[in-house]
Amino acid sequence: MRKKILAMLKRNKDFFISGEKISYELGISRSAVWKHINTLREEGYEIESMPKNGYKLLSSPDILTLEEIEEYLTTDFIGRKVYYLDSLASTNMKAKEMAFNEREGTIIIAEEQTKGKGRLGRNWVSPKGKGIWMSIILKPKMAPSEVAKLTLIGAAAVNEALGQIGIGTCIKWPNDILIQNKKVCGILTEMSCELNMINYVIMGIGINVNLDREDFNEELIDKATSLKIVTGSKTDRKRLTAMILNHFEDLYIPFKERGDISKTIHISRENSILIGREIRIIREDTEYIGQALDIDDEGQLIVKYKDGKVEEVFSGEVSIRGLKGYI
Ligand code: BTN
Repeated sequence: MRKKILAMLKRNKDFFISGEKISYELGISRSAVWKHINTLREEGYEIESMPKNGYKLLSSPDILTLEEIEEYLTTDFIGRKVYYLDSLASTNMKAKEMAFNEREGTIIIAEEQTKGKGRLGRNWVSPKGKGIWMSIILKPKMAPSEVAKLTLIGAAAVNEALGQIGIGTCIKWPNDILIQNKKVCGILTEMSCELNMINYVIMGIGINVNLDREDFNEELIDKATSLKIVTGSKTDRKRLTAMILNHFEDLYIPFKERGDISKTIHISRENSILIGREIRIIREDTEYIGQALDIDDEGQLIVKYKDGKVEEVFSGEVSIRGLKGYI
């Protein structure tokens, strides 16, 4: 009922809608309407009430519920079911618990993570209300070896969504998004599979949206940044969340249905920070120096080593660093 009242208020945004009309259309008493209005107010919705005119929605809170993101959502199934939590240890951890019983495209979003997980066992700083901390449950019917390509799709989707709101970014293959050489988004893809079948994939996406410098510790501030630090103003998290999901679905469907990853590869190449640069490739504690030449049609990084040997590097097996600084 609360959901229906909110939908009515949103449809009539900036206009009054009478308590009588709401109660008549929803078949509930005027006092029940009033109770739901108060619940919405407690959630942060600013609702004006005037004895003769009824209720008017003045503003909505900055929260990432389905109700708040769906006005920007154009997807068919990605993000159409959202579990929204105020605080979680990690959305990836929660998604893994739920994945078997959930349909593909369901997402878990939290306003804060108390044990946000990064790659290689690192922590992921996830302060309340300032970022987009979400995990998408995917169930593609493909070989487990194809999953590395999904990560590229995640990175390409974030890159496209940020581009759409006027923020140019680079992709550090396979899955970091950088601005001014600092990391603004990381992706952690985890999966459960049998020998040749995927049970589910969890794509965890973390975006530093409205974090301030103080949110990063001393060690991180040289390597990480946020959209707010870079642009000097706050970014609308709701719209950005929906736009990422929209781009993700656009890139995911051709891959899932036909194995077509060409658009993603094009985006990864065009925005790559590595291509043409000297890089360090870290494989099982050994470091190699080479030059990143290209990303091939399978999404592998082509590297030329000092001795002239050229190799295709598969994303799951290495860690890449720039020769200077973070990248
Ligand atoms: C990285 O190390 O670059 C990956 C960071 C991934 C962070 C996201 S935030 C949402 C999801 N839940 C987690 O615990 N981690 C991922």
